[in-house]
Amino acid sequence: MSDDHELRVSKIRDGTVIDHVRAGQALNVLAILGIDGSEGEGVSIGMNVPSDRLARKDIVKVEGRELSQDEVDVLSLIAPDATINIVREYDVVEKHRVERPSAVEGVLVCPNAGCITTENEPVTSRFDVLDDGVRCAYCERIVREEIASLIDT
Ligand code: CTP
Ligand code: ZN
Repeated sequence: MSDDHELRVSKIRDGTVIDHVRAGQALNVLAILGIDGSEGEGVSIGMNVPSDRLARKDIVKVEGRELSQDEVDVLSLIAPDATINIVREYDVVEKHRVERPSAVEGVLVCPNAGCITTENEPVTSRFDVLDDGVRCAYCERIVREEIASLIDT
């Protein structure tokens, strides 16, 4: 429920609203989705918006785009409370909470320079998802902060 006087970012007609994003993570959400506006798509961002569920939240609206499960899995690492709303013809036709997968493959780069996944071996990275971070399945390096900086771009 949002009263009109609280509406900061316009409604969209078709696309995806990623709501209840942890404050401060909106730009990382765009990075994960590979969105920089260069393809002409409509993108709206609200940052530090008051929220009833979180003290402050970020919100990202992307027009004309629905997300893949892989994208949602990675988003869940930086925005564990996010809601994905699919909008068609102005109506929210689907709403679901992101779910943290038990592991993510090929989307994060291990920060350990000695890790086999960062050498020239054709080894796909794999991180196990912990309650408070991620752990490389090969070298066991644990990352709790700045997970977004590990995203393979
Ligand atoms: N939204 C939008 N454009 C639309 C419809 C909805 O940008 N055409 C946005 C709303 O502004 C809101 C989110 O999508 O941020 C979810 O919409 P809705 O389910 O109507 O809001 P709430 O009931 O407040 O959602 P929740 O219960 O998940 O907090
Ligand atoms: Zn590693």
